[in-house]
Amino acid sequence: MQSIVRLADYRPSDYLIDRVDLDVRLHPTETRVTATLALRPNPGGEPGAPLRLDGDELTLLAIALDGQPTGPGAIDVTPRALTLHQPPQRPFVLEIETQVNPSANTKLMGLYRSNGVYCTQCEADGFRRITYFLDRPDVMAVYTTRIEGNREAAPVLLGNGNLVERGEAGPERHYAVWHDPHPKPAYLFALVGGRLGRVAARFTTMEGRDVEIAVYVEPGKEGRADFALDAVARSMAWDERTFGRAYDLDVFNVVAVSDFNMGAMENKGLNIFNDKYVLASPDTATDADYANIEAIIAHEYFHNWSGNRVTCRDWFQLCLKEGLTVFRDQEFSSDERSRPVHRIAEVRTLRARQFPEDAGPLAHPVRPQAYREINNFYTATVYEKGAEIVRMLRTLLGPETFRRGMDRYFSTCDGTAATVEDFLAAFAAESGRDLATFARWYAQAGTPTVAVTGAHDPAARTYSLTFRQSLPRIATEASAAAAPEPLVIPVVLGLVAPAGGAVAARAERVRDGVFVLDRAEDTLVFTEVATAPVPSVFRGFSAPVKVEHALTRDERLALLAHDSDAFNRWQAAQSLAMEVLVARARAGAPLGPEAGPEGAGLTAALATFLDAEALADPAFAALVLTLPGEQEVAQAIGAEVDPDAIWRARQTLRVQLGRDLGSRLLGLRDALAEPPGAPFSPDAASAGRRSLRNAALDLVAAADPEAGIALAIAQLDAAATMTDRLAALAVVSLVPGEAREAALARFGEAYRHEPLVLDKWFALQAMIPEAGTLERVRGLMRHPAFSLGNPNRVRSLVASFSLNNPTQFHRPDGAGYDLAAEVVLALDGKNPQVAARLLTAFNTWRMVEDGRRRRAESALRRVAGTPGLSPDVSDIAGRSLA
Ligand code: ARG
Ligand code: ZN
Repeated sequence: MQSIVRLADYRPSDYLIDRVDLDVRLHPTETRVTATLALRPNPGGEPGAPLRLDGDELTLLAIALDGQPTGPGAIDVTPRALTLHQPPQRPFVLEIETQVNPSANTKLMGLYRSNGVYCTQCEADGFRRITYFLDRPDVMAVYTTRIEGNREAAPVLLGNGNLVERGEAGPERHYAVWHDPHPKPAYLFALVGGRLGRVAARFTTMEGRDVEIAVYVEPGKEGRADFALDAVARSMAWDERTFGRAYDLDVFNVVAVSDFNMGAMENKGLNIFNDKYVLASPDTATDADYANIEAIIAHEYFHNWSGNRVTCRDWFQLCLKEGLTVFRDQEFSSDERSRPVHRIAEVRTLRARQFPEDAGPLAHPVRPQAYREINNFYTATVYEKGAEIVRMLRTLLGPETFRRGMDRYFSTCDGTAATVEDFLAAFAAESGRDLATFARWYAQAGTPTVAVTGAHDPAARTYSLTFRQSLPRIATEASAAAAPEPLVIPVVLGLVAPAGGAVAARAERVRDGVFVLDRAEDTLVFTEVATAPVPSVFRGFSAPVKVEHALTRDERLALLAHDSDAFNRWQAAQSLAMEVLVARARAGAPLGPEAGPEGAGLTAALATFLDAEALADPAFAALVLTLPGEQEVAQAIGAEVDPDAIWRARQTLRVQLGRDLGSRLLGLRDALAEPPGAPFSPDAASAGRRSLRNAALDLVAAADPEAGIALAIAQLDAAATMTDRLAALAVVSLVPGEAREAALARFGEAYRHEPLVLDKWFALQAMIPEAGTLERVRGLMRHPAFSLGNPNRVRSLVASFSLNNPTQFHRPDGAGYDLAAEVVLALDGKNPQVAARLLTAFNTWRMVEDGRRRRAESALRRVAGTPGLSPDVSDIAGRSLA
């Protein structure tokens, strides 16, 4: 097994690399790389230590030290390292020539080919698959890259930084030289060579720099790149306005490739993207796609400051760039779209992905203390919970002090490889506060629970709120379960009058609506409270915690109707629904048309809400109508979970909503219909109207499948956007029968040349909650468009099944687990990163009821016991079973 790397063992590098000159001669199977490295001993390192350069699947062709071949015994070369035993104790130059095979690189790490295009992915440790190097983020160098390639096959040659030279290199070849003046770690290196189409625009920064922005895509798809191009310009403008950060090179290039392990990568001046997050047209992309493209373009661009100008000292600090950059992209999307609607979307993702991770065997702190395989730590915890920590910091310090802290962080750490301590130090200095206790958020795994109880004393005219925080005790491989210490939890709150209106109460310890809970238990007292109010706590989801707040149904209904905080209005509806769902699922209740009196109370309140507000904010209304997801209900139940019972409970409530609200929903659908021929716009308001229309259709069809399918098929035929077409197809996909099969076949045929649209079609079918789905998925794995080699295809078909189809993944006979395990093993030899990601679907295995649990465990053990596993998969399997 891969050995363990610990934060506590961090030592500075013994050598530094100041300059890297790369000469890359592209060839499909024999690419040659000559690296000229200007090295010197690090004053902070150990004098005389051997120099150990990382390598991975490299063929060494030649090596020279200061222009001379190295003597016998001076170096050792193994598949994973090149060691120079007695390096000079002064500046010296190593010239290393290696050969790699990009066409055989199915791991999609290092230099590989995607649809014939040469591209690279170096984070976290892919640069060592291009040349021998000190592949660690605290070694920062200035890179000059000469890329040479065949003129026909690779007319476009891109590198980091600015283009400094280009020319001919023989009859068939040409070259380009790129220079990046900003010192950077190797993980930010990139190059691209291929036949690509291009769209471009100019942007003048607030510092007066004229920047050329370009987006490169598969030739013929240029028309689908305009939205991404515009999103780059909007991101640049936003970061100037919001954080005072300007771009720092003359070109900013984005390249879309179709084979990519993750979403995208922030290489300096040359962001490389999964094409799913670049290409958009009304006919091929949904509103959700447009929103994702905008968010990920922004995310990668924002990394230019939070990640590149200030990078990470080591990979334990990953949240320093990722959590912060997610926070920044979330703020961007909130400003560009609707803040409350976006906040709800963020929280839904956090609860659906991060809370289960934090409650399962893969739980880890936002800053882990140890890892075996760093690529397995690009997690919801590091990204999403990491972003929540930054948001809490802003809530605690207030926006002005927060902004000053950010300025100080960027200016004091510019050009360095920093740590979480450096980040917090900037805010401590600006605010004069001690953030040592706050820092526990980075170190303690698990989701805290905060129990809230309120009491009104009419005689004293006081209202008291008691908060009690409890934290799970979590042992990891790296550390035994220490007793967790109380966290600093910002509680944004207010009191609402049961009949509406704010309660003008005062509490000394509430500043700007924020109460800070920083001990295990605390009581807050409001004075001058004449009548019993309804407390609204954790407004805007002010901390990533589970809230236990025993409100009555009427109190929740009062919040839904009257809270000034939109998030808590939505939360009130979610909590009401959740109570119904958990009760029914726990009882194993059968499918029925009625979720009981509680369900009736909910539908009555929703009717009032829809009548008053749906047309004013359709996007928000659509979210209020969307019930908590199956995974969220499973988390609320916590143990001995029966996924079928959860599905039945949710289905029953959907049927009831559809029936009780049916005429209203149909009315809204008509009222929000787009006039024929109206021009398409992906903006938030238009998308919001589409989302409410489609939420309405979905509920109507749940209650009356026959009527629903007729409406859906009509919508499918008439739809002008992929959003409406896919929503209709989703409705059709839930009703077994010939109409469904015909509609699916027609859609698959219509888009057979559009892999990104087929991905939606694969995903939709993989999520059908029926016993036949397993065979359907197996069948689709033989579809000509499916390939285990393409991560998007695997995610659409197999990950959708394993992660988003709880009843079928958790089939009582274990066949769902077997399918997932089988694909993990088939994929592991090709692409370990994607295989390992797929295996995380087993994260919740201990929570399910006994029969399923035993079957899940045996599938996991089968994976774990397979000889020759990648470190990626063996790490996930090992931790899942521990
Ligand atoms: N830094 C990229 C981002 O913006 C993620 C790259 C992760 N890649 C990997 N192989 N682990 O989120
Ligand atoms: Zn990122």
